Amino acid sequence: MAKIGILGGTFHPIHNGHLYIAKQALAAFGFDELWILPAGLPPHKMVEGHISRVQRLKICEAAIADEPAMRIIPDEIFKTSTSYTYETLQAFHVAYPQHQFSFIIGEDSLNSFDSWVHPEIICQLADIVVAVRNDKNQDYHSLEARTKELSKKYGGTFSIIPSENMPISSTMLRKMLAEGADVSMYMPKLAYEYIKEHRLYQVTMEDDLKLRKEIQEDLKNNLKKSRYEHTLGVMYTACSLAMRYQYSMTKARFAGLLHDWAKYLSDEEQLAYCKKHHIEITPAEEQAPYLLHAKIGAYVARKRYGIDDEDVCHAILVHTTGVPNMNLLDKILFTADYIEPNRKDAPRLEDIRMMAFENLDTAVLMILEDSIKYIEDTKRPMDPTTMDTYEYYKTHSYKE
Ligand SMILES: [Fe+2]
Ligand SMILES: [Fe+2]
Repeated sequence: MAKIGILGGTFHPIHNGHLYIAKQALAAFGFDELWILPAGLPPHKMVEGHISRVQRLKICEAAIADEPAMRIIPDEIFKTSTSYTYETLQAFHVAYPQHQFSFIIGEDSLNSFDSWVHPEIICQLADIVVAVRNDKNQDYHSLEARTKELSKKYGGTFSIIPSENMPISSTMLRKMLAEGADVSMYMPKLAYEYIKEHRLYQVTMEDDLKLRKEIQEDLKNNLKKSRYEHTLGVMYTACSLAMRYQYSMTKARFAGLLHDWAKYLSDEEQLAYCKKHHIEITPAEEQAPYLLHAKIGAYVARKRYGIDDEDVCHAILVHTTGVPNMNLLDKILFTADYIEPNRKDAPRLEDIRMMAFENLDTAVLMILEDSIKYIEDTKRPMDPTTMDTYEYYKTHSYKE
């Protein structure tokens, strides 16, 4: 028999306040494991912060990566109907008849406990642990009286653990993240890194269907048929990679759509375009003006279509040469450009296609290796950034 503590909540997102209660409960009650049980959320709530259930779960998993006694239990998070605690506890009892459960609730829930569905079943299936704020004004006497009253009414065991009165809430963190504030002091490092990498809880760009159609129409009219098909291939592949790596599909879609916008311009026209719009031309680009289509694409995204999303513009900007330490969208576009379904004849293409969905950094390195070989074999001018990117990924890709 194992003693299990259960901490439920929406964890939208999880923060140090939750972990503090979990640790306190582990230490105070000698649980063998502490289960963190993220709740499903009504669909409208998910829109806030633009994050999916999978992402909310991943943040929780990252948060407890260094907590061997804690586990994330995904039983409720994927439910589309309301999950009632008594039902979850019943399911746990069936699945783990050997375990003894304690259910941790907050002080507020103590007052509303009578209105929970089937409090008597909850009390029968789990001991109740009440985490209460530890401050000098706390009226422990009335709290204890209340737990005694509930215990008598429903026949369960109620215990109290003090928890630090931390000035943190998920609502506050969502607001701070939306403003781009650093919240590293309020949540575990790995959880915050996951949020940053995937651009979660930030104001992300809207999927503007009208704009998408307008861009697509322009591309269809300007680009050669094969280039237009390549563009659509990159767009869909970027979306697939975004799904795989839990990234914003909207950003991936616009990056894919616009990356080769300027490809219909000749070398001379690209040089002229850059001069006219004061876009800087490096010596490498002077030698190989086709490289400029990336810069022009990023410029057009901003100026012509009003897309001022930093990530989308940056991904377009670096899509031909890459850049050391690319962000997730940069890598998604760089890879999608190489592996989209219309591509053929590149060596290792099938391997890179598979690798892209296994380990994106390794796929990026393979693309760089093969691209550099191709540039050298065909004696084309090499942009030094391609080499820098290769050097970076050579030492950063095979870590896992
Ligand atoms: Fe391109
Ligand atoms: Fe391309």
